[in-house]
Amino acid sequence: MKTYLTKSIKDAARYLKNGGTVAFPTETVYGLGANVFDAEAIAKIFVAKQRPADNPLIAHIADFEQIELLVLRLTPAAERFIAAFFPAPLTLVLPKSAQVPLAATANLDTIGVRMPNHAVALDFLRECQTPVVAPSANLSGKPSPTTWQAVYEDLNERIDCILQGEQTEVGLESTVVECTGDAPLILRVGAITLEDLQRVVPETAFAAKDTAQTVRSPGLRYKHYTPNAKVILISSPDEINDVENAGFIGMSVPLQIFTLTKICVSATDYAHSLFAFFRECDAHNIKKIYCQTVAEQGMGLALMDRLRRAAF
Ligand code: TXA
Ligand code: MG
Repeated sequence: MKTYLTKSIKDAARYLKNGGTVAFPTETVYGLGANVFDAEAIAKIFVAKQRPADNPLIAHIADFEQIELLVLRLTPAAERFIAAFFPAPLTLVLPKSAQVPLAATANLDTIGVRMPNHAVALDFLRECQTPVVAPSANLSGKPSPTTWQAVYEDLNERIDCILQGEQTEVGLESTVVECTGDAPLILRVGAITLEDLQRVVPETAFAAKDTAQTVRSPGLRYKHYTPNAKVILISSPDEINDVENAGFIGMSVPLQIFTLTKICVSATDYAHSLFAFFRECDAHNIKKIYCQTVAEQGMGLALMDRLRRAAF
């Protein structure tokens, strides 16, 4: 199958409405979309990505009215998060409505819902006239794509269309919060932080590891975000002796000369650049990527989560 590349939102939406799979930009990473109500189209996402069948998808919406198509009921906490944050890099896990096919949720009775904070994504979703389920548009296990070229690298001839946009701003996937019970639980850390969420719903907490919630978020069990190169975490570039065929990314300026070096001005800038840097290192056949650790606060918390998974 030839993958159609386009900058036309109308053309991309036509592929989706005709039952196709379409990659599109968001503020976090590129997603690989299909109509949430089309189980056959959803099956194509799992084949294209080689995604494990038990990993549920996030439904993307452009308008608040679409929530009731997807969700059985909203908890008071969910209502407050929606009012305070949407559109945002935030996914809320909610009880799913009967009409959402189990193919979208990997047989769970909940569905992740997100309204991306990105003009092209919102225009595309509106043009699709339906909520769109979309995992990150990478091969399973690879770093999430932050450019359309990264999508092309992983999925050319495996998907129907790529809507070509700019490099994504945030660079890490959305914060995922389960909002089905009394206290909201963070299943995946992202740009919307615990502190941000607690300002709106003070009871919000991190889901403890290996609890019912994390087991219910199967995506967290899989190996993630790994380039071909070996990822090594270091607190300072001074610790590195072996610079041959190596890359460095971090916030300090190293004295050594690496094959590729990326110096970031903040944790936010580091998050924005990380996955693109991983892919650039792979393109250069780099064997080791040294990643400098950052303080685990604000964006630094999500960044350290992804760095640890990549180094695992
Ligand atoms: O920023 C993002 O979230 C991007 C863009 C495209 O929106 N999407 C993304 O999707 O990262 P994906 O499929 O790569 O990650 C979805 C995560 C997985 O860890 C999955 O297990 C979790 O969300 N998830 C989805 N639906 C869930 C549900 N019903 N219950 C628990 N976890 C869920
Ligand atoms: Mg993913």
